[in-house]
Amino acid sequence: MIDVALCPSEIRRFENIDLSDTTAVVFDVLRATSTMITGLECGVERFFPVETVEVARAHKVQDPSLLLAGERGGLPLEGFDLGNSPAEFKAIRGKSVVLTTTNGTVALHRVRRAKRVYVGALLNLDALAQVLDSEDSTSLLLVCAGTGEEFAIEDAIAAGGLVDRLSHKSLSDAAVLVKSLYREASSDLGAYLRQSRNGRALAGIGKAQDVEECARLAVSQAVGVMQEGAVVKLS
Ligand code: MLT
Repeated sequence: MIDVALCPSEIRRFENIDLSDTTAVVFDVLRATSTMITGLECGVERFFPVETVEVARAHKVQDPSLLLAGERGGLPLEGFDLGNSPAEFKAIRGKSVVLTTTNGTVALHRVRRAKRVYVGALLNLDALAQVLDSEDSTSLLLVCAGTGEEFAIEDAIAAGGLVDRLSHKSLSDAAVLVKSLYREASSDLGAYLRQSRNGRALAGIGKAQDVEECARLAVSQAVGVMQEGAVVKLS
């Protein structure tokens, strides 16, 4: 069965449910999971996704070799090395990054008890589908990180793109919904992302190029998986 948590309140519901037989895939297309996929593809060693700025800073105190990255309100944080634009991570090689974002890293934290946790984006949909089909997981939960407390259409489109690529036959109502949304949007993903609430907000702070980066479909072979609290590239 494939199920989908469409927004933060639904994600919270799964925090108290036994996910020990479930594989979770977290989507925060604009931009946290797209950033992680881009970084892993280009040579970032691992991302430590953390919920708060304070926890991120504490990691750095413990290990000064870590890079600090993230955003609040879409903007880089004071004293951090990097923001949350995918392009910033293309030149980072062989380093570990602590990442804190408004929704994406929080969603990863909430489903951390699942059997496996993958990082999904439009960028890596084909590679991700191949891995999931080969694992033959019977219970899949697609997690749409959203924005603040709200649903974000770009996460649902990407989740639908994954449903569309998987051979699973048993779909929840929400999985059927996101699949048909993806089919509607796939003719012009760029337009859907630009018109989304997050796409417009990012354009408003001068980050329209990030939206274009994140709208690219299946251009990356990188699959991110959680291992011991960090997101690493599946080898
Ligand atoms: C989030 O985690 O909410 C996003 O990645 C926000 C952003 O990139 O601005």
